[in-house]
Amino acid sequence: TGLITLDVGFKNTGATKSTITYLDGDLGQLYYRGYPIEQIAKKSTFTEVMYLLLEGELPTLEQLNKFEGDIKKNSLVSEEMKQILKAFPRSAHPMGVLSTLTSALTAFNPHAVNVKSEKDLYNAYTLLLGKFPVLCAWTYRLKLGLPLNYANNRLDYPHNIYQMMFRMPTEDLEIDEVFVDAINKLLILHADHEQNCSASTVRMVGSAQTGLFASISAGVSALWGPLHGGANQAVIEMLEMIKDDGGDLQKWIDKAKSKDDSFRLMGFGHRVYRNFDPRAKVIKKVADDVFSRLGVEDETLEIAKKLEEVALNDPYFIEKKLYPNVDFYSGIIYRALGIPTEMFTIMFALGRLPGWIAQWKEMRMNNEPINRPRQIYIGNPKRDYIDIDKR
Ligand code: CMC
Repeated sequence: TGLITLDVGFKNTGATKSTITYLDGDLGQLYYRGYPIEQIAKKSTFTEVMYLLLEGELPTLEQLNKFEGDIKKNSLVSEEMKQILKAFPRSAHPMGVLSTLTSALTAFNPHAVNVKSEKDLYNAYTLLLGKFPVLCAWTYRLKLGLPLNYANNRLDYPHNIYQMMFRMPTEDLEIDEVFVDAINKLLILHADHEQNCSASTVRMVGSAQTGLFASISAGVSALWGPLHGGANQAVIEMLEMIKDDGGDLQKWIDKAKSKDDSFRLMGFGHRVYRNFDPRAKVIKKVADDVFSRLGVEDETLEIAKKLEEVALNDPYFIEKKLYPNVDFYSGIIYRALGIPTEMFTIMFALGRLPGWIAQWKEMRMNNEPINRPRQIYIGNPKRDYIDIDKR
């Protein structure tokens, strides 16, 4: 079988060749299909970014309109899916509910499972792009015990997300443009990040020729964890804990540094970035913008800024090159926009969906083989079975 190279956590193993996202961890650079994230975040819309990631080029107006129309055509979700949703208790974590619903799409849309041509693939992923935001909004409505809303095809993607989450049955909806602008940027910033844990999961599952929806459902589960997308929830919980504890920042920094304490500074550090996460820089500006437009002050934002300053000047964080990552400020923004803490990772999933699909599509188009890592066995050598009465 040859010599096996051990790389626990795949810290230095390339799993594929990709043309989607470029990331330079030392310089803190991130490009989607060659376009720097700072330019994209400033000028683009999430729908356009979805197209760019999935099709490889920025769309013409005509291409964009067709793409948007195809997504809208797919925004109805079967009534039976509601029964699955309603079987969950309100206390269920929305990410668990979302992964179940995403997987269930396979059962309700079997025609979209066996993709054989590029056209089949396009049909499958526009179906998912149409239904996934509805499912995300439903996890929120379940949590709050509210009646479910459907997509409104007159609205674009971020406006629709807003109305599906927040519209009350008897009230006229006034769309909060601060929310829509901020969400548009946050979705763009989360849209892809090359071979991260959830994207690798999607590719791993898909490499067994499992269908798109089941593969994406696995990606949702991977994203849920606090070391990955779940960090945005964990950051807010940490900031609240620090606030309730009296706000002694040095104490928490020391805890994060201690080898005897499992506490980590959530929202800090990254597998690839050894410099500022370029997304964190943009997000910090979005946070300032949101708070000034809403005209509110938030104690946790102040704590976060001070904590960042203390950490960035601390020799431990300097030496280990630990900088704030995308999740350090995102949760603070979500909360200011009225999104409950347990929904934060759902918002991340909404943004990451096109990236997951683009990764899955690339893997399929390249006819990549099944992913199957090896191991170095360190267990017992061969031994004889012992009958139960002799153990
Ligand atoms: N607080 C304190 N120490 C840290 C932290 C932190 N947040 N992150 C890393 N370290 C230390 C770690 O203890 C280790 O020290 P030593 O070399 O002495 O053992 C060193 O820095 C390297 O860390 P690592 O855990 O080996 O690095 P990794 O690449 O395996 O982990 C990470 C990357 C993001 C999981 C980690 O930095 C972490 O746990 N951060 C907090 C959780 C977080 O914010 N996750 C979101 C990541 S970005 C968005 C996303 O992926 O979804």
